[in-house]
Amino acid sequence: MTDSTDTIDWFRHTAPYINSHRGTTVVVGLRSSAASDENFINVVHDIALMHSLGVRLVVVHEQSTFNSDPLTPIAVNKAVADVLAERTRIEQMFSMGLPNSPLHHARLRVISGNFITARPLGVINGVDRSGRGLVRHVDVAGITHALDGTAICLVSTLGHSAAGEVFTLDALDVMGAVSRSLGADKLIIMSDFDGVEDTDGILQRQLTVEAARQSLETAGGGQKEALMLACDACDSGVPRSHLINYTLDGGLLKELYTHDGIGTLISPDEYEQIRVAEAHDLAGILELVRPIQQAGVLANRSNEEIERSLDKFTVITKDSRVIACAALLDNPADNIAEIASVATHPNYRDSGHGERLVAGLIDRAKQAELGRVYVRTTQTGHWFQELGFTRASPNTLPESEKQKAKINRNSNILVRAL
Ligand SMILES: CC(C)(COP(=O)(O)OP(=O)(O)OC[C@H]1O[C@@H](n2cnc3c(N)ncnc32)[C@H](O)[C@@H]1OP(=O)(O)O)[C@@H](O)C(=O)NCCC(=O)NCCS
Repeated sequence: MTDSTDTIDWFRHTAPYINSHRGTTVVVGLRSSAASDENFINVVHDIALMHSLGVRLVVVHEQSTFNSDPLTPIAVNKAVADVLAERTRIEQMFSMGLPNSPLHHARLRVISGNFITARPLGVINGVDRSGRGLVRHVDVAGITHALDGTAICLVSTLGHSAAGEVFTLDALDVMGAVSRSLGADKLIIMSDFDGVEDTDGILQRQLTVEAARQSLETAGGGQKEALMLACDACDSGVPRSHLINYTLDGGLLKELYTHDGIGTLISPDEYEQIRVAEAHDLAGILELVRPIQQAGVLANRSNEEIERSLDKFTVITKDSRVIACAALLDNPADNIAEIASVATHPNYRDSGHGERLVAGLIDRAKQAELGRVYVRTTQTGHWFQELGFTRASPNTLPESEKQKAKINRNSNILVRAL
């Protein structure tokens, strides 16, 4: 029972993410070895599910690490054959659909082709890099046409020239050019590492481009290239780049359809963050709630009271500024918690911040194994009802909370069981 309730709860929480990603264009860059990893079949299933949820997907696969050594004609043929063999294998995996697999009934159409025009890398430092090329042009119309026809576009690291030559290309060059040219909403680079870590080895969930560039100094070889690509993509107009590990089961789904994600998200601006309040948020919380308290909409709490219960607050910040807050005043002795001081700055209302906060506090209450949460409100009863709360008599509250409920402005009590 609990399991199915959890699943339903989890599924409902994915709805805002499903809605916001539907119709967006996402470029997934598979670094070398991703397609031969044992988890790759799960990556294929996740891409198929994203496609079913309306995401327009372009997958770029890297067959092997590009280097600029010259290739003999035989080596060029071998490299081309290897890329095509991998392309065929990926197409084959997307075409599977046995009844017991997640691809059953998916009927995916994967389109690959001559999407990239290339030019030779040429002679560098006196050495002819024959067989290697640089992206010259991406056939945006061709890819868009494929996406409009609900196909997944599979782009390989081969480029063709007007003179009829074929070149092997650097996969990162292709991933960058494709996401830039398409004006993609996201570039997701799937490598063999989890994301960007700080100096204590802690994974950074979100970074601005500026902060990500600073961590380039300490990043290792393969990581540095991916991180540079992620930053360059953002600089060239891609709103979000993500670094995730292709060996993690469900990595793509966790990154895109859960609040915390699983890898590192890089974006030009500081991303909105929801987190437990810290000492430096106090001024922002007071600035936010004070006028609402003065208007009599929120119960009065003194500055000292708010400061004392600061760790009970969850805040949403944007560019380090508190734009919404709410507190979970828990009472473990009576297995209940009050949700209080729920407020969104007037400039940021009607964008789901209030709902996210309440959902976050409910998660906190569940983690603390509490049985119920309640609110006291004068004007937002309907809003809480839409979030699953029901009207209740103050008598249903434990004695400790009843005392609190009395000190107030004839408010209504709404309760939600957890
Ligand atoms: C209530 C409040 C926190 C909602 O914040 P928010 O970030 O705008 O919330 P969401 O974006 O999740 O929800 C917005 C939706 O709730 C609706 N809503 C807002 N206030 C409402 C109210 N008092 N009664 C019913 N619905 C309300 C909005 O119209 C909007 O509906 P829509 O999605 O159909 O357009 C915000 O309006 C606020 O700070 N109000 C003043 C403080 C307050 O009343 N706090 C609650 C007392 S504990």
